[in-house]
Amino acid sequence: MLKDKHIVLGVTGSIAAYKAAELASRLAQEGALVEVIMTRSAQEFVAPLTFQTLTQRPVITEMFQLLSEMNIAHVALAQRADLVLIAPATANTIAKLAHGLADDMLSATVLATRAPVLIAPAMETNMYENPVTQANLASLVARGMMVVEPEVGHLASGRHGKGRMADPAVILAMAKQALGRDGDLAGRRVVVTAGGTQEPLDPVRFVGNRSSGKMGYALALAALERGAQVTLISAPTRLSPPPGAKMEFVTTAAEMRDAVMGSIAGADALIMAAAVADYRPAEVARQKIKKGPQGLTLRLRPNPDILMEVAEYRRSTGKPSVVVGFAAETEDLAANARAKLKAKGLDLIVANDVTSSDSGFDSDTNRALIMDRLGQTSELPLLAKSELAGQVLNHVVELFRNAGFFTSK
Ligand code: C5P
Repeated sequence: MLKDKHIVLGVTGSIAAYKAAELASRLAQEGALVEVIMTRSAQEFVAPLTFQTLTQRPVITEMFQLLSEMNIAHVALAQRADLVLIAPATANTIAKLAHGLADDMLSATVLATRAPVLIAPAMETNMYENPVTQANLASLVARGMMVVEPEVGHLASGRHGKGRMADPAVILAMAKQALGRDGDLAGRRVVVTAGGTQEPLDPVRFVGNRSSGKMGYALALAALERGAQVTLISAPTRLSPPPGAKMEFVTTAAEMRDAVMGSIAGADALIMAAAVADYRPAEVARQKIKKGPQGLTLRLRPNPDILMEVAEYRRSTGKPSVVVGFAAETEDLAANARAKLKAKGLDLIVANDVTSSDSGFDSDTNRALIMDRLGQTSELPLLAKSELAGQVLNHVVELFRNAGFFTSK
């Protein structure tokens, strides 16, 4: 999604400027046309040549000097930018932007652009926490700019605190979301569930399943990149939360049920990609169960079927407008999917055969069929989970349209 996008990368005078080199490199590798503007103090930390080499484009270091070389007007960069990204952003630059100053090329560009502006602050904790910096950031956010919060960690000052520039990977993810903020899911609230629930047996053991959470996380990320507000309700996984998602971590099916029911009132779509345990141990031992020669018989009790409850809620409220379920099957894929679609009152079901190694649990790819309420089925080829996520969301957008949901589009 970055291919041929004009991204102005503003680099200001913080020690984190060296991390901006990695960011510039990753943006360029993904096909973006990166135009770096450095403030004077940024050049004390990193040489412009570093950025010029990484982006294969001239770096702007002065308001007037390079413009004639580049043969462009001083607002041309601002006008052709698809995104202005300032990383790192110092307290000084943030203050200038908050007050509309335009005394160098970067601040002038921000003032002159209509493109989304994303800011990654980096500074010493006291400067960051100073009420004036916080007020400046709040005023930028109020005017539609996006801020990637700094991390807590070791700072150049030797102290430990909040102020370290966010990881370049996080900034990159947020840059994609900033670019997609007017996408076809803009303003839509999407709840996604992911991962496999764990049902405790005793304090150290649980009954679980092989779900990795990759499909649900891919869906959350793809929805964010198309402009949605995303709540990701996640059972345990080994994955990092998608930047920008509102995370709710749960362990058991009962907790997932509560989280889903608690979040769907305000949701436009629910996508249940989680592998929810159908049963839980009838008794949970308070102490670790001891091993013994007599063996162990587990008695299991059925868990609530979350989608069944959602269907009931929907019958009375009409919300959420779109509900998508998943079916992991080992036999009779289409027939099972059709039955589940009906029983659970779904708009869409994504079914995959989990017996093959390139499809289903823990794989990075999936071979799935997507079936809708009218029985229309599309059989998809082997796809990366990120691509399948895109296909599922295309159907979700279509369902919104059919529901007359997009009155203004
Ligand atoms: O009936 P089955 O468990 O195979 O259906 C799978 C779909 O139902 C998935 O979307 C899963 O997230 C959801 N599910 C649920 N509550 C359960 C079990 C599964 O909502 N207790």
